[in-house]
Amino acid sequence: MRETILCENTLIAAEMLRRGQLVAFPTETVYGLGADATNSESVAGIFESKQRPAFDPLIIHVADIAAVQQVVANFPEMAQKLAAKFWPGPLTLVLPKLPHISDLVTAGLPGVGLRIPNHPLAIELLKAVGRPVAAPSANPFGGVSPTTARHVVDGLGGRIDGVLDGGPCDVGLESTVVSLMTDQPMLLRPGGLPIEDIAAVIGTVQRAVSDASRDNAAQPAPGMLSRHYAPATMLRTIAQDDAAVPITGKRCGLMTHGPYPCVQGFEQIEQLSGTGELRTCAANFFAALRSLDSANLDVIIARSFPATGLGIALNDRLHRAAFA
Ligand code: TXA
Ligand code: MG
Repeated sequence: MRETILCENTLIAAEMLRRGQLVAFPTETVYGLGADATNSESVAGIFESKQRPAFDPLIIHVADIAAVQQVVANFPEMAQKLAAKFWPGPLTLVLPKLPHISDLVTAGLPGVGLRIPNHPLAIELLKAVGRPVAAPSANPFGGVSPTTARHVVDGLGGRIDGVLDGGPCDVGLESTVVSLMTDQPMLLRPGGLPIEDIAAVIGTVQRAVSDASRDNAAQPAPGMLSRHYAPATMLRTIAQDDAAVPITGKRCGLMTHGPYPCVQGFEQIEQLSGTGELRTCAANFFAALRSLDSANLDVIIARSFPATGLGIALNDRLHRAAFA
């Protein structure tokens, strides 16, 4: 066990990262577990502390467009357009990597995931570090992503060196990941930037399909494991218009995006938003999932979200959380 320092000072956190330590930090999406991306030993520490398989690549975070050239071999026009419109923000672009970016970061793939986060503390931190920072979500592998510093400590306390506390994350869902490694852009993970917004800038984006039979090996789009973002409690999803019925003899919890009449018999109900507004749902989603998971329930029943905008990413997280 090591001591995990909780701090609010970006300069201290930056110094720790520069020394090779592992420090979690806030972004607008979720908290990331940072390591100096140019230090292979530190990057290896991320995989060790999260118990993350080496075939799952890490996203690199930089402070500004000028720093992009430290990471990618070229920055095609489509990437420039997307960056101009959506960076800083919840969009990760996969682009050809420069040779000095370690294979550990990219899981041996030729592309590297890169983004500029939209959070003042993250930007301050990245500027002070002065090097690209690799950061997956700061949770044990496969678990629920952290949207507060407390969530990070609950999952990784004693296994990492520090957490920079910046309060709760605004977006609450991980970034949307788009690969620009081929002429046809591919959506590798729906996320905090709705895919419709991206399509409005670059046209249709094809969705990569995951293959459950390859869950233990590198996928064409790694990190698309069937089971992910999962609470310890069994989770079942229902269609949004279905009536939720608690299972007789079981302690059941309910997650619903907005007002919903079928709440009788549930031990705990998490309504993510007063009106079902998807932005609010996303911001509250992981915290609500954690709260249900710690309520000593036998099963969590979750209503699916409307399949549009952020609802697409929310449904993706729900279905992976429910995969048994
Ligand atoms: O919002 C986010 O993206 C957060 C914050 C901290 O930036 N990070 C995050 O990282 O969610 P992580 O490691 O939990 O998920 C990153 C996923 C990988 O599992 C993989 O699906 C995809 O991004 N990815 C990253 N690098 C890739 C690459 N080189 N090629 C293909 N997919 C990649
Ligand atoms: Mg993650």
